[in-house]
Amino acid sequence: MSTELFTFPITKTSDSKIKYFDWDHLDFGKNFSDHMFIMEYKDGAWCSGEIVPFANISMHPAMSALHYGQSIFEGLKAIRTEDNKINIFRPDMNAKRFDESAKRMCMPPLPEGLFVDAVRQLVGLDSEWVTTRDGHSLYIRPFMFGTDELVGIRPSETYKFIIITTPVGHYYSEPVNVKIEKYYTRAASGGVGRAKAAGNYAASMYPAQQAMKEGYHQLIWTDAATHKYIEESGTMNVIFQIGDKLITPDENHDTILRGITKKSVLAIAEKWGVEIEERMITVEEVIEAAKNGTLKDAFGAGTAATIAPIAMIGYEDEKYVLPPVEDREISNKIKKYLGDLKAGRIDDEFGWNFIV
Ligand code: PLP
Ligand code: COI
Repeated sequence: MSTELFTFPITKTSDSKIKYFDWDHLDFGKNFSDHMFIMEYKDGAWCSGEIVPFANISMHPAMSALHYGQSIFEGLKAIRTEDNKINIFRPDMNAKRFDESAKRMCMPPLPEGLFVDAVRQLVGLDSEWVTTRDGHSLYIRPFMFGTDELVGIRPSETYKFIIITTPVGHYYSEPVNVKIEKYYTRAASGGVGRAKAAGNYAASMYPAQQAMKEGYHQLIWTDAATHKYIEESGTMNVIFQIGDKLITPDENHDTILRGITKKSVLAIAEKWGVEIEERMITVEEVIEAAKNGTLKDAFGAGTAATIAPIAMIGYEDEKYVLPPVEDREISNKIKKYLGDLKAGRIDDEFGWNFIV
């Protein structure tokens, strides 16, 4: 993990919004802390960044990101630990993924240390927004977008990198019902599915909305070419427990986001001696396991959702109900372990906590 390399000038707000804040009604991503980080890229280099009061930004109507979608983002969380420190979970991993997304989208690289130090200083300044409430956290949203004022297609030559933060509670309030998607596609091989690119989320909204009309919370995406292989679920990677094994799609496909939560789950499970298979998974295999009772568990893993148990899987007009959540020994144990680790209740044996 980087030690502090970058420090940024700070202009503090004279009127903190925290005194008006209603901690009992946290809609995910609707409220914002007092400050934001902002930095511009022009003439082939990043200019010095700064932390300023949270405010609207102005833009030219021809701003390139609005028209052609050069826009990427990250999501990570700050948690208050048991001994009242602020912990950010694995920010170096988000910094690396941000850089990979930038490359794929023809956007300028951003040094890992700069990303991490900007997050650290912003969260440090707005530390009051990291609540002690159990299960709540400060969601950190770094994003970058092209700002050229040009209705012509080429990579933008100017960009903004901004970080905003939003206090959040649980993303899903109950175990989720998911539908295995057989027609629509989130990402195709050779496309940008591995990047955390804004357009991937835009493309997923219509199919997800259709599934919601049928009573599902989300989709499980399948591969674009055949719709036979499982990819991921909404904004989460997906892990199945068939028998005693945890099985999840491998990362050799450029259609799947390489999730940090999933990697953490697998590292914990591996350390505990749970058998893990990272490989292609057919829809058929999952449905067969659901039918013959060997599908013990299925859950999504993601920063916003943490570990989200799947209650029911829909496929071809059939609904397959999974075992009760309280019986799911491995994922419940991992969820508790991750929560304890982030909150500093147990030793950080993996070195994942980043104390501000
Ligand atoms: N897949 C998609 C499409 C996502 O948006 C996310 C959320 O970030 C994930 C997977 C899970 O990734 P992570 O655990 O790094 O948040
Ligand atoms: C995250 O888990 O960080 C995500 O990206 C989900 C988000 C789109 C709400």
